[in-house]
Amino acid sequence: MFQMKQMSHLDHAPSTPGKFKMEKSYSRLRWHSFTKLTFWSFVFIGLIYILFYRSPSSSPSSTVNPLPSDLSRRSLRTSSWGGPDWEKRVRASSRIRSRNGMSVLVTGAAGFVGTHVSAALKRRGDGVVGLDNFNDYYDPSLKRDRQALLERAGVFIVEGDINDVDLLKKLFEVVRFSHVMHLAAQAGVRYAMQNPGSYVHSNIAGFVNLLEVCKEANPQPAIVWASSSSVYGLNTKVPFSEKDRTDQPASLYAATKKAGEEIAHTYNHIYGLSLTGLRFFTVYGPWGRPDMAYFFFTRDMLKGKSIPIFEAANHGTVARDFTYIDDIVKGCLASLDTAEKSTGSGGKKKGPAQLRVFNLGNTSPVPVTDLVSSLERLLKVKAKRNIMKLPRNGDVQFTHANISLAQRELGYKPSTDLHAGLKKFVRWYLSYYSAGGKKADAR
Ligand SMILES: NC(=O)c1ccc[n+]([C@@H]2O[C@H](COP(=O)([O-])OP(=O)(O)OC[C@H]3O[C@@H](n4cnc5c(N)ncnc54)[C@H](O)[C@@H]3O)[C@@H](O)[C@H]2O)c1
Ligand SMILES: *[C@@H]1O[C@H](CO)[C@@H](O)[C@H](O)[C@H]1NC(C)=O
Repeated sequence: MFQMKQMSHLDHAPSTPGKFKMEKSYSRLRWHSFTKLTFWSFVFIGLIYILFYRSPSSSPSSTVNPLPSDLSRRSLRTSSWGGPDWEKRVRASSRIRSRNGMSVLVTGAAGFVGTHVSAALKRRGDGVVGLDNFNDYYDPSLKRDRQALLERAGVFIVEGDINDVDLLKKLFEVVRFSHVMHLAAQAGVRYAMQNPGSYVHSNIAGFVNLLEVCKEANPQPAIVWASSSSVYGLNTKVPFSEKDRTDQPASLYAATKKAGEEIAHTYNHIYGLSLTGLRFFTVYGPWGRPDMAYFFFTRDMLKGKSIPIFEAANHGTVARDFTYIDDIVKGCLASLDTAEKSTGSGGKKKGPAQLRVFNLGNTSPVPVTDLVSSLERLLKVKAKRNIMKLPRNGDVQFTHANISLAQRELGYKPSTDLHAGLKKFVRWYLSYYSAGGKKADAR
């Protein structure tokens, strides 16, 4: 380190006539360097501590106020789960009501996609138990309202973190899950520069932890999990096919999803876990995520605020393959239905197991400017467009899915175009934020 270099340089200082004076200032310098070194060591250790032991709670406010993260860190160790009443609720929620139904553990069940998938599974008679840590990356009251929705449908969401081994083990003790739908993750591309640790915590450490428990479970469940279209990163070949290169992620978020795909390969290879990764392409719809453009454009347009519209170099269009939530749900259910059993038992592989990756997109990229025009028509307000250069901090210029593999293997066929889907989103948005008197600006 810099200080060390300076010290060794001083060590080799030649003797001079002013030796005594030199020695004094040398020792003072050394002492000074020593305290500086100690100081920076503390800073360094502090940073490591923050990075690795930070709680999943990840709102920008918690960096200012340490209380929320302390609270949720504590809840990772001694959360409120357990006890006979709790087990009864878990069992009731996991009850299968249809012939050939499955019992599914849905992680991230209070999230946007998790809520829709849980509700759809429950509707058709499968047993569903949710798991979510309700972190405050975005307004947790939205997650609580989704939870209430699922509660009414008969789905219990266990409150806890996927990094909590004891909790996961307990869940597998109480229910012999045949499937895991793993949707819990730290999402968002730009937020990764603010809170990189939360991506490592949920998308890497949490995923490994979940797989560890799954591989030990008897029977081992089949696992379907959410990767992301962002793994295509700087890939320029369109449309994106599953075989294209995915080794140039443009954000830490993308890198953690790519890591997840490699980790999935390992657990499939060593333990015989059946694993299906789904690369979602910009999912939108009712109960969506407030950190996504279509959502905060709607909020800000209604408030008369200007919205940032990104433009690539040379006025290039930024486009997204927007995929409506109902189409994504169908793809998730078809993945669960076609997932083969895991082959291992007792933590050991017994034979080769299924390993799949699918694009789930809409196959028609739409320029973000068209998204705004659609919203203008639906909201009947004119947007104040603030054209900005696309920053090089994670967002790519366009995404476009080749879905022929999912079409063939899953019968996946998206059927909602952007305008029709936005219409349903806007209807939900207006009723949710006006009827309940909810504050749309709460993050
Ligand atoms: N929505 C999209 O456009 C999109 C696109 C590509 C991939 N994905 C992926 O799909 C999945 C679902 O996304 P979403 O849009 O519903 O996001 P979301 O943030 O609404 O849902 C994720 C849920 O997981 C929970 N969670 C996060 N970390 C957790 C942890 N350590 N333990 C327990 N729970 C935890 C959160 O509280 C949240 O409710 C994620 O894996 C995401 O990366 C989403
Ligand atoms: C789409 O992917 C399939 C493989 O799944 C490939 O055969 C086909 O050529 C791809 N289509 C395009 C237009 O790239």
